[in-house]
Amino acid sequence: MSAALEHLERVVPAAPGRPELAGDDHPMRAVTRQIAFEPGGWTPERAAKVTALFDGLAIGWQDHGAEERMDPLFDALARGGHIPSRHCLEVGSGTGMATPCLADYFDSVVAIDLSFEMLKRAPPRCGHRVLADGSRLPVADGSVDSVVLMNAFLFPAEVDRVLARAGVVIWVNALGDRTPIYLPADDVVAALPGSWEGVCSEAGWGTWAVLRRST
Ligand SMILES: C[S@@+](CC[C@H](N)C(=O)[O-])C[C@H]1O[C@@H](n2cnc3c(N)ncnc32)[C@H](O)[C@@H]1O
Repeated sequence: MSAALEHLERVVPAAPGRPELAGDDHPMRAVTRQIAFEPGGWTPERAAKVTALFDGLAIGWQDHGAEERMDPLFDALARGGHIPSRHCLEVGSGTGMATPCLADYFDSVVAIDLSFEMLKRAPPRCGHRVLADGSRLPVADGSVDSVVLMNAFLFPAEVDRVLARAGVVIWVNALGDRTPIYLPADDVVAALPGSWEGVCSEAGWGTWAVLRRST
């Protein structure tokens, strides 16, 4: 691992009223770190628990859909440098809150999620929805131009495997460090195999990073 991460000044101000969903002691924080950094962090037991949890949260998930939540994704696409616009894989897409925005930007979007209850509520016309586990992506090596993870677990080896040589990882936390599934950009770089560089910033309530392999 080595990093050249440029921190861009914020251009999108934060509106008042950011939900304070999570702090450093939120249980999802530890799980997120274990999955990103520990080889045994994702077990069948954990997968079953996480599936049940998000199946249970699926009804009403769209109610979390304040417009402000999209600010960091739009900002990442606008200021993240060159982002190839062909094949996008969205991991942990939930009810597809971000998927229409991705479908506007990319030629093709595959949105995958572990929770069928989440996935079945996703908009049908803006991407292929696939029930799958981010730890074993049903995607060929090096076939994806952009992997988008918004409030989603990072499975570093899989992201690295499926991403094309010149591809980018787009990491978004809609509520910044108040997001339950949160990693700072430096930790995403540290977790990914090999050497990465890129840009990161804050936008609205959230944070984002666009990362590419160092040449
Ligand atoms: C916090 S939600 C975020 C959903 C959506 N990206 C958003 O921002 O509204 C996390 C999502 O990741 C999914 N997820 C959890 N573990 C996963 C895994 N191993 N593979 C794929 N999806 C997973 C959950 O089912 C859930 O829909």
